Amino acid sequence: MSNLSFPKGFLWGGAIAANQAEGAYLANGKGLTTVDLLPTGEKRWDIMKGNIDSLSPFEGEFYPSHEAIDFYHRYKEDIALFAEMGFKALRVSIAWARIFPNGDDKSPNEAGLQFYDDLFNELVKNGIQPVVTIAHFDVPVHLVEAYGSWRNRKLVHLFETYAKTIFKRYKDKVKYWMTFNEINMLLHLPFVGAGLAFKEGDNKKQIQYQAAHHQLVASALAVKACHEIIPNAKIGCMLAAGSTYPYTCNPEDVFEAMENDRESFFFIDIQARGEYPGYAKRFFKDHNLTIEMEQEDEALLKNHTVDYIGFSYYSSRATSTDPEVLKNITSGNVFGSIENPYLEKSEWGWTIDPKGFRLTANQLYDRYQKPLFVVENGLGAVDELTPEWTVNDDCRIDYLKKHIAQMAEAMKDGVEIIGYTSWGPIDIVSASTGEMKKRYGYIYVDKDNEGNGSLKRYKKKSFYWYKKVIETNGESL
Ligand code: BG6
Repeated sequence: MSNLSFPKGFLWGGAIAANQAEGAYLANGKGLTTVDLLPTGEKRWDIMKGNIDSLSPFEGEFYPSHEAIDFYHRYKEDIALFAEMGFKALRVSIAWARIFPNGDDKSPNEAGLQFYDDLFNELVKNGIQPVVTIAHFDVPVHLVEAYGSWRNRKLVHLFETYAKTIFKRYKDKVKYWMTFNEINMLLHLPFVGAGLAFKEGDNKKQIQYQAAHHQLVASALAVKACHEIIPNAKIGCMLAAGSTYPYTCNPEDVFEAMENDRESFFFIDIQARGEYPGYAKRFFKDHNLTIEMEQEDEALLKNHTVDYIGFSYYSSRATSTDPEVLKNITSGNVFGSIENPYLEKSEWGWTIDPKGFRLTANQLYDRYQKPLFVVENGLGAVDELTPEWTVNDDCRIDYLKKHIAQMAEAMKDGVEIIGYTSWGPIDIVSASTGEMKKRYGYIYVDKDNEGNGSLKRYKKKSFYWYKKVIETNGESL
């Protein structure tokens, strides 16, 4: 027995995203989305950064989102397994192009709306609270072709229409919402975060921050609509979090670390506090960036801030101003961090830092004084199915155990946390690499990187471990 205590009603569960789980990428009227254009292999990184030649899938490439783990057809079986583990919440995302196949259609696609009705009914029937992300790395491809995606103000109102449509439809079923998944991803992988495809000569920074402004206004409009349509719902933002450590106590390094964090806080400062921070204004000036805003934007941002801060935490980051030290960038990190000599790394080069989780949670709470929701955390690792049809994933258990313990410490520090939905409770496609081999699940899915496999589900050792954690409300840890 541990002395860890979690409040009654704490939302234990897991988190997935439509494009990484559902498959059925053109089923029942769904339109093509940006993620459907991400193949596995070398090309993927380039496209994610916004260098894409064609907005249709290439012959001969493998696109993992097209089938994913076929959650679209198998969600009942999967939800039964989540219920067996005792999940209180499942975070899913709605695929925008299932509801509005082109993004700017006059009316929504009823088959798409019905799919999520059925999915939410199944969750509710099993006592699982749906937690819904409105946009998780997907933009209908037509919006990229016709308007240049989020660089265009037009997207703000198309998104608002989409958000209002789903709020009205699911108002009796969904009480937890989030606007944009890892909104700060836009600055790192612009095609993933905002469907931005660049042409030669584009001022990328200018386009990214203009797109960011559009997403921030769209997010505020979604918060406004959610509060009006579902008064008893909570709607949050979502940050790819992980504090940055200075490599030394040289003030130059310390300042650099702060600047690094501010690149991400920029978004949440606006979503949670309602205005552009002074450091952002300086940044725009120093970089000759001019962000076009409409007159009403200031009031919209100010009056419609989020109810809670959703965030993902996988690792901390580290930075330096010393060019020699800067050479040691960790291989797998989307956010470009240097290696921290005190910490171990995952098989994909992601730093493992449980204490950093407590630190990050404290930092977010100190800054925003709003409830936090840990909506992603976990270890991507290679798993081997044993002859007994299970996986002995002790490494994953160890990672999760240490992180949950640090989350409990943060709560003892006074941080208010609503729930914990670990990433990929069932193996799904990796967002960064497109692999199936990078697994996070408590449930193994028989499918490989090339798309072979029966798609059968098997319970890993961690399945029973997490079940116990939930059953005992963290006491068993
Ligand atoms: C987050 C995303 O960046 O990290 C998820 O919100 C993603 O979509 C997760 O899957 C883990 O990253 P990866 O690349 O290991 O799948």
